[in-house]
Amino acid sequence: MNVPSMSPFLFVTDLDNTLVGDDAALNRLNQELASHRQKYNSKIVYATGRSLYLYRLLAEAKSLLIPDALITSVGTEMYFDQKHEKYDVEWAKILSQGWNRAEIVEIASQFPELQSQPKSEQNPFKISYYLAESVATETITRLKKALSENGFIIQLIYRAWQDLDLLPSNGNKGLAVKFLRRRWNISAEKTLVCGDSGNDISMFLGQEKGLIVGNAKPELLQWYETNRNDNLHLAQSNCAGGILEGLKHFSFL
Ligand code: GLC
Ligand code: MG
Repeated sequence: MNVPSMSPFLFVTDLDNTLVGDDAALNRLNQELASHRQKYNSKIVYATGRSLYLYRLLAEAKSLLIPDALITSVGTEMYFDQKHEKYDVEWAKILSQGWNRAEIVEIASQFPELQSQPKSEQNPFKISYYLAESVATETITRLKKALSENGFIIQLIYRAWQDLDLLPSNGNKGLAVKFLRRRWNISAEKTLVCGDSGNDISMFLGQEKGLIVGNAKPELLQWYETNRNDNLHLAQSNCAGGILEGLKHFSFL
């Protein structure tokens, strides 16, 4: 029988279509998490592809608990203060290695298939485009080649057959979670990461417990099929309902 945990754990979740998407389940989950945080000092973290600007819009529209840390823009910004006013400079320093935004933009500008996303979604360590599915594979291969010929070994993350993010090699959601674990001294076994799409895969690569919601996108389900293991659980329920299922499955609640 699973014994629910009475010790603190680190809870990390993506927002769109993972934490958010089923309001009734979200309310139930919020209650459980808030009470675990109060009793046992568990940590709640959001790891989203959204910029801080788009995060704030969502936080106004939905009832979200105030997180202990906020990771925005696919892991390229991190905030520990409650008002999210100061991004963490130690993390920014790690991201800056091997990265030169202006030069990377210059190389990418030679690819007409790439359409820039709005300004709010660009930041010093994230360059984001829209890219049509029909030309995606071929464009990404050529872009990768052009970048590496210029000495840039960076990450190209394609999500939901639509968004292409260029990120520093040191920056993604998964690496951001590892950074947090080191800072708070929390083991992988005491960490649950939750997601629904391609930009969440980096969180599922380590020893952390991983929860994939029932409504996950095809690219994540495809990845799961070839990478199943005991640390991963594909939920039957969608969104926050799936997260509750995962918290029980891994005996965090
Ligand atoms: C969010 C961001 C966008 C990014 C996408 C995938 O939608 O707003 O910039 O490309 O997530 O990570
Ligand atoms: Mg999502």
